[in-house]
Amino acid sequence: MVARFPDEFLWGTATAAHQVEGGNWNNDWWAWEHDPASPCVEPSGDACDHYHRHPDDIALLARLGFGAYRFSVEWSRIEPEEGEFSTAALDHYVRMAEVCREAGLAPIVTLHHFTTPRWVAAAGGWAEPATAARFERFAGVAAGRLGPLVERFCTINEPNVVATMGYLTGIFPPGERDPALRHRASLVLADAHRRAMVTIREVCDAPAGLTLAMTDYQAEPGADETVAMLRDPDEEPFLEAVEGDDFIGVQTYTRSRVSPSGPLGPPEGAETTLMGYEFFPEAIGNTVRRAHEVTGLPVLVTENGVAVADDTRRIAFVRRALEAVLGCLGDGIPVEGYLYWSALDNFEWTFGFGPTFGLIAVDRVTQRRAPRPSAAWLGSVARTGVVPD
Ligand code: BGC
Repeated sequence: MVARFPDEFLWGTATAAHQVEGGNWNNDWWAWEHDPASPCVEPSGDACDHYHRHPDDIALLARLGFGAYRFSVEWSRIEPEEGEFSTAALDHYVRMAEVCREAGLAPIVTLHHFTTPRWVAAAGGWAEPATAARFERFAGVAAGRLGPLVERFCTINEPNVVATMGYLTGIFPPGERDPALRHRASLVLADAHRRAMVTIREVCDAPAGLTLAMTDYQAEPGADETVAMLRDPDEEPFLEAVEGDDFIGVQTYTRSRVSPSGPLGPPEGAETTLMGYEFFPEAIGNTVRRAHEVTGLPVLVTENGVAVADDTRRIAFVRRALEAVLGCLGDGIPVEGYLYWSALDNFEWTFGFGPTFGLIAVDRVTQRRAPRPSAAWLGSVARTGVVPD
C-alpha cells in the first residue's frame, strides 16, 4: 500500500442541484414529491437554499481544505420548455463555476443528476428514444457556456439508478414497474450519454464521463451466476457505453452479500447506517478495481460517504474507505480523486431530509451551516495527502 495520495489527486465533496438548491418546481421530482401516491416522505422545498447561498458554501469548502467541488446544473432551469434556453440560468451556473475557481476549487459539473424537466417527462421521459437527442442538445448548450471553466463534466449521474428505480422498482419517477421499460430506459440513457460525449468534445476541451452506482456484490459459494444476473441489466449497459470516455465515476455506499437465491442483507448484528445499509467502507476499493478492470479507464470516486447520526462513525468510515483507495493506488490502478458525498446535509430523495450525509450540518429553519469534525478531518487529509493514524 502506498503511504500517501499523489499531489494531483482531486479532493472534494459533491452535491446535486435538486438536493440542495431549493425551489426546483419545474422537474419530475418536484411533481413526484407532491404526489400522495409516491413513497416520498416530504417535499424538497427550499432544500439548503444553495441556489442563493452557494458563494458562502463554496468559500467554506475552500477554507476546510478541499480542492474540487462537484455540483450539478438543473436542466429544468436552463431549458424550462423545449428549446427555450434561459440565459439567466446559464449565467447563474457560470457564476457558480467562477466562484469555485476564485476560491481555488476545481468545478466538476454534472449535467443530469436524477431530475428531468417536466416537459421531457411529459414527452415520455427516459423510456422515449427522442429524449437522448433532447439531452444531447441541452448538453451542448450547457457545456458550450461552462466548458472553459470546468475541470470535468459528468454527463449523467447513475443512469443505472434512474433506469432501475424509475422503471423497475417504481420508487423514483415515473414510478413504472416493468423490466422491459427498464431495459428500454437503459438503452436511451446509454445513447444520451454517448451523444452528449460527442457534443461536449465538440464544444470544449474538458474531460468527460459518466458516474455509475456500483454495489460491491460479494458472491457466497455458488452465487456467481446470481451476481451476474443482478449486474447484467444494471451495470453492464453503462460499462459498455463508457468506451472511449476520459474517466469513469464510481459511486459506492456499501456491499451486498449474495447467495444463490439473491441478496442476503447485512449480516446479523452488523452496524448499519441511517439508510439501512451495512457499514462496510471497504466496498469502494472493490468497485474501483472492478470499474477499472472492466473498462480500462482511469477512475474518479465521484461519490462515497455515509449517513450517520454519530460523526465519529463518519470519520471511521472515510478513513477505511481512503485506505481501500490507497490499496488500489498501490496496485497501480489510476484513481484520480475522491469526492465525499455530501458537502451538506440535504434532500435524500424519497427519504426526505432524514439521512444526514453531510460534512456540514444544515439547520433547516435558519439555514445555518455547522461544519462537523469530519469536515475538518477530511479537509486536513485533502491538504496533506496523508490519512493520519
Ligand atoms: C446519488 C445521490 C444520493 C446518494 C446517497 C447516490 O445514489 O447520486 O443523489 O443522495 O447516492 O443515497
